Amino acid sequence: MAQYNESTVTRAVLDSLANCKDARFKAIMQSFISHLHAFVKEVDLTESEWSDAVKFLMDTGKSSTPNRNEFILLSDTLGVSMLVVSLAQARKSETLKGATEATEATVEGPFYWQGAPDVPLGADVSTGMPGEPALYCGRVTDIEGRPLAGALLDVWSGDGDGRYDVQLSDPPVMKGRGRLRTDSEGRYYFWSIKPTAYPVPDDLTTGVMLRRMGRKNWRPGHLHVMVSADRHVPLTTHLFVANSPHLDSDAVFAVRNSLIVDFEKQPPGKALDGRVMEKPYHVANYDFRLAPAKTA
Ligand code: BEZ
Ligand code: FE
Repeated sequence: MAQYNESTVTRAVLDSLANCKDARFKAIMQSFISHLHAFVKEVDLTESEWSDAVKFLMDTGKSSTPNRNEFILLSDTLGVSMLVVSLAQARKSETLKGATEATEATVEGPFYWQGAPDVPLGADVSTGMPGEPALYCGRVTDIEGRPLAGALLDVWSGDGDGRYDVQLSDPPVMKGRGRLRTDSEGRYYFWSIKPTAYPVPDDLTTGVMLRRMGRKNWRPGHLHVMVSADRHVPLTTHLFVANSPHLDSDAVFAVRNSLIVDFEKQPPGKALDGRVMEKPYHVANYDFRLAPAKTA
């Protein structure tokens, strides 16, 4: 006769996977069950704390929509998204020669919008957003520094007030987004604004959790970039504005030192790409390095 109590139940649950045919799923579930039971024992979880946690997860699910997945925000603010991204890049670098020298990846975040307009080099993707103008430029190369011609950059950011287009109107109108390709020498350049720090949404369950933990919900100013090229591992990353507030306290733990970029302030005049600027602007120079994709 089975006898379940705090000493025997963990073993019994683990043994219940004996007939699981999917080895990877079995390993994940056994580890998950072991850690979950150990956590419940460690904090000596009470029945009311357990039902509060269940209600919190129910509310998180109920408040999620296709455009606003509160579970992803929960994962982001608990550092799980960043952990998964970092492990993925480390895993690729074990199997791909030299890939440790690729540009570091970071979280995608919830504001990527597929289908940004294709724009030529030198275009201004800010489409009238408030903010200080910034020229973004640099090269896309492989990890040996060889230029990657025709590499695709898909960029997006909030405006100079820290708000994304998707937060400004319903239905939203695309702003601050564009897709462009490097020239024959792997160079890219485009205009947008210098992004400012902004708070991640805190109106649903993640906000409740953050406030209860005594945490802030701010992110440092950053531009999002996806970079891809034939026969190379695609990269999703950010460029962080040097000296931005919250670089040391990013609510989603996505900052990496190698992604912090000086936005050098320039006086009005002719910019590097020949554009004549009537007011001061910034130049952010950054080279992206892509790892080679695994060959079959
Ligand atoms: C963002 O970068 O926009 C973001 C990332 C994670 C959670 C919320 C916002
Ligand atoms: Fe962002």
